[in-house]
Amino acid sequence: MGNRAQVLVPATTANLGAGFDCLGMALDLYNSFDFELGSNEFSVTGEGAGELEASQGRLVYRAWNAAYASVSRVAPPVKLHIESQIPIGRGLGSSATAVVAGLYAANRLGNLQLGVDELLSLAARIEGHPDNVAPALLGGLVVSSMGEQPGEIDHIVLEPPDGLQLVLAVPAFELSTTKARSVLPKLVPHSHAVFNVGRAALFIAAWAKQDWDLLGKAMDDRLHQPFRAILVPGLVQVLSAAVEAGALGSALSGAGPSVVALTIRKPYDVGEAMQSAFAAHGVECRVILTKPAGRGAHLARSHIDGWEGEL
Ligand code: HSE
Repeated sequence: MGNRAQVLVPATTANLGAGFDCLGMALDLYNSFDFELGSNEFSVTGEGAGELEASQGRLVYRAWNAAYASVSRVAPPVKLHIESQIPIGRGLGSSATAVVAGLYAANRLGNLQLGVDELLSLAARIEGHPDNVAPALLGGLVVSSMGEQPGEIDHIVLEPPDGLQLVLAVPAFELSTTKARSVLPKLVPHSHAVFNVGRAALFIAAWAKQDWDLLGKAMDDRLHQPFRAILVPGLVQVLSAAVEAGALGSALSGAGPSVVALTIRKPYDVGEAMQSAFAAHGVECRVILTKPAGRGAHLARSHIDGWEGEL
């Protein structure tokens, strides 16, 4: 493998409406992390370079150290360069890419022999929940759930169907996951929990059968979006505008503030409708058209000599 690795890790959209903390999908939009063993130096270019310096860099090193510590080895110094394409603090999994990149690179460069379950468990411990790190590591749509044992993450990866497009409306402001979680109630009515269990199960069944109408309907949520609406002006209207413009369904992306719409037609119309609805509430946003990514973290082609598999 040598002493260098360039790791690409996809953005992710978590929850997808009803699947709070258990559903996440990889997006065809990547951060690139260049690791070179030698000395601890850090640089970054691209999206939000200034903020990344503090938070993303620290996260990568934390994950790098955690991977070595998990096999009782001391992490060697490593030079890191991040080329960032994923908007930060917008609910698109940028911090998950940093965690996954640090673990993945340590596993490759240090030949640590960590398997998927161990990497996922370490990643979820650092991130606090598995729904972004799982698809960032594995690609596709991932259903993940914390098991009974500490660090146990039960998960299943589903491949993305052909033809599904994603429209992201990405507001100009950031929203931290901590803040977006602080507005959630400690208790919810039993009927709301039942509603979400049904919707999340329907989402997975509709995905498997490619039943587009049901997939969209299955994105309704009663556990987090209604509470987070206070932090994202126009959220309710943006969610409906996407569907009225032809999307199958729409949801707050992760903890927000971005909104994701799933569509098989008219992605530009959907994007314009979402942008106008945000604008009507004084929120500037940019629109990104993308699609689900079948592949999670991987080495860039130029670093693929001696490659033996995905992990
Ligand atoms: N499931 C998490 C949340 C995702 O909604 O808080 C955070 O990116």
